[in-house]
Amino acid sequence: MTVYRGTFLDTPVAGELRVELDGGVRVRDGAVVARGPFVEVATADDDVVDLSGGLVLPGFVDTHVHYPQVRAIGGLGMPLLDWLEQCALPEECRLADLDYARTVAAEFVDGLARAGTTSALVFGSHFAPAVDALFTEADRVGLRVTTGLVVSDRLLPGALLTTPERALAEGRALAERWHGVRRSRYAVTPRFSLSCSAELLESCADLLASVDGAFFTSHVNENPAEVATVAELFGGSYVDTYDKPGLLGPRAVLAHDVHPTDGELDVLGLRGTAVAHCPTSNAALGSGLFPLRRHRAAGVRVALGSDVGAGTGFSLLKEGLQAYFGQQLQGTEGERLTPADLLHLATAAGADALGLDDVGHLSIGRRFDAVWLRPPAGSTLDVVLRSAAGPHDALAKAFALGGPADVAAVWVDGDRIRG
Ligand code: GUN
Ligand code: ZN
Repeated sequence: MTVYRGTFLDTPVAGELRVELDGGVRVRDGAVVARGPFVEVATADDDVVDLSGGLVLPGFVDTHVHYPQVRAIGGLGMPLLDWLEQCALPEECRLADLDYARTVAAEFVDGLARAGTTSALVFGSHFAPAVDALFTEADRVGLRVTTGLVVSDRLLPGALLTTPERALAEGRALAERWHGVRRSRYAVTPRFSLSCSAELLESCADLLASVDGAFFTSHVNENPAEVATVAELFGGSYVDTYDKPGLLGPRAVLAHDVHPTDGELDVLGLRGTAVAHCPTSNAALGSGLFPLRRHRAAGVRVALGSDVGAGTGFSLLKEGLQAYFGQQLQGTEGERLTPADLLHLATAAGADALGLDDVGHLSIGRRFDAVWLRPPAGSTLDVVLRSAAGPHDALAKAFALGGPADVAAVWVDGDRIRG
């Protein structure tokens, strides 16, 4: 049987770092079956995979990332609605071409894997064949993806618009083909209420009700101009636009929520809906500082999203660091996040938000979804890790300095998908 040897860090309990220095993790049929000190776990018959040097972490879980926006990364200097018009939507229109979509799907899945992301809730494309291309590529590589057709029926370029009937039919066909197939699941995905009529959101609710175990995802309360437009279009609160048709529940994830009212937070807490906090995107678009403390006080589950392409890359190490900065900048209103909090947000909290109760940490019984961070010899991260005062310090250094170049190998279900 396979035993992995290395320094394992994970957070089965929020805020508490579990450390296995010179640890051993035994994996059978993709699941962790034993763990502890290497000398106690390994036997002479085992096939030992030596991961000493660096850190072994649970695979990262990205709860909000856009497949068609890989090539839109780095469009800086604009607020949300200008950025959508000038950067994101013109690129999204190009995915009407299936060959182009296939190329982008390969770049996207590769980008996630290189960053150490093993599970993701992905905003798909407005074009059904492009969404099929994404499912096909993620399935080929072996990533856990939950994704679906993005739908809108107003205020976007005409090529991106659909109708409630077509959205339902195309969504149903994709879900029938992919939902529950190996590591893929379907997510009902209206782009945001600004670009969706009440009738389209009703059709999303019909689709959600007809696909057992499907997820719901969209955007909420990201930018003040967006929030004001949604209020003009619908009256009522932004959260209500999704709640009224019955789209919110424990299998729903709303991205951003930078500007919620207390009443909206109460609804999210009551419904068990999770929020994807997207720190680099919020900073890049100037959307604002995330009110983490208010979410926690209302009992709202929070995890991390890279929000590529408004976000500045696939690495959840960078998102964790930016989440830390964002809280620091709020002074006494902010949460003082520890390295263990950052790891929890990037792994176990994400798994919880996505209802993936067999990943997120490396406990016995969980799937072996893992990332080996081993920085290139002589890199600054390599140098500072060698002088780390202990595992908490080493983890802080990984968040401060780490990125895709430090990801030496990645496993999903015990399958080595990279490195
Ligand atoms: N709101 C609606 N669409 C988008 C998008 O593509 N990115 C972000 N950050 N917010 C959105
Ligand atoms: Zn987004």
